[in-house]
Amino acid sequence: MKAVILVGGKGTRLYPITCDTPKAMVPILNKPFLEYQIRYLKKYGVEDIILAMGYLPEPIQNYFGDGSEFGVHIVYLVEERPMGTAGAVKNAETLLDEPFFALNGDVLTGIDLAGMVKRHREIRPRATIALTPVEDPTIYGVVETDANGMVKRFVEKPSSQEVTTNMINAGIYILEPEILTRIPKSTFFMFEHDIFPSLLEEDEPISSYPSDAYWIDIGTPEKYLRLHHDLLLGEGQSSLYSQGEGSRHIRIESGSKIHPEARIEEPVLIGRDCIIAKGACVKGPAVLGVRCEVAEGAVVEGAVIWHDSKVGKAALLKNCIVASSSCIEDGCYIPSGCVVGDNVVIGEGSRLAPQTRIWPDNYFKAA
Ligand code: GTP
Repeated sequence: MKAVILVGGKGTRLYPITCDTPKAMVPILNKPFLEYQIRYLKKYGVEDIILAMGYLPEPIQNYFGDGSEFGVHIVYLVEERPMGTAGAVKNAETLLDEPFFALNGDVLTGIDLAGMVKRHREIRPRATIALTPVEDPTIYGVVETDANGMVKRFVEKPSSQEVTTNMINAGIYILEPEILTRIPKSTFFMFEHDIFPSLLEEDEPISSYPSDAYWIDIGTPEKYLRLHHDLLLGEGQSSLYSQGEGSRHIRIESGSKIHPEARIEEPVLIGRDCIIAKGACVKGPAVLGVRCEVAEGAVVEGAVIWHDSKVGKAALLKNCIVASSSCIEDGCYIPSGCVVGDNVVIGEGSRLAPQTRIWPDNYFKAA
């Protein structure tokens, strides 16, 4: 089967992380997010991949090329303006003549695609939607199904009295190609609001594939951090992630120099050529990108620091993100004595004065 991955969105909820890095390329354990999705598809034998792009396509194309390095074949389609999830798949119509996968490009999951295909083939509906449970369904669109798992109704943000299910659309579909004839050309169209509800209105069958496998979308800084913590702590594990970095341990890549009087507490991933000075502490779950420096007495705890960033003396970075630009070599500089707290994102170009304290409330007020 082929797969269309939707990677054209602007990822505004992740700003400033996604100001010049597409969401598909944000690093997860120092590798682009999309690499995990491609390996996930490949694991299920999906090797023909179409990337539906719009916002910042070049970094994606430059990294993945024709896909051969990853054992897949990649075709790129670039939209001149956002076409929405369904409009983007419509663009690939001439390449799709059999049932295919369509995936949101910001979802990381262990959902069993083989089981999903089996269900789709048994029922042969117009579409099969993977479903995942959430704790609080009132902030999502939920999907109600009947006793046979066929979709009955989509309910956007149900009130607590209306809630009948906690299953939401997991952003992974198997679609019959005929569905594409319902999508007008060159028009912004969404599966979630335009196509799926109209199928139900016309009594066209939509099947579901509920799964309680690990699932997360990296739509917000909080979830971006949570995914790192989950992988480092071994919670979001499936065989997909068990390539070394996913287990509870300390991994220090080549060329990195750790002072004997520095403290490293697992689980931690330290990229190539980093320098951790005397008395500095990196406390997991935490990640340092390549060529980062942590100066004397500084503490990095629960944080994700992108490449080439420098943390000054006695600074404290706790559960935050320091996101260097992917376009330039220089990373961020956090001057000495700064304190950066939970879920704060320091983007490239931020200029902090020494001793600056940024806790979440300050950050959100400033934004
Ligand atoms: P926000 O701006 O933070 O809402 O993020 P987003 O733009 O990524 O939107 P959203 O999270 O709703 O998108 C879900 C998935 O669909 C992501 O993988 C997006 O890249 C993708 N997507 C959304 N809109 C488009 C589009 O117009 N074209 C394409 N090709 N992909 C899209």
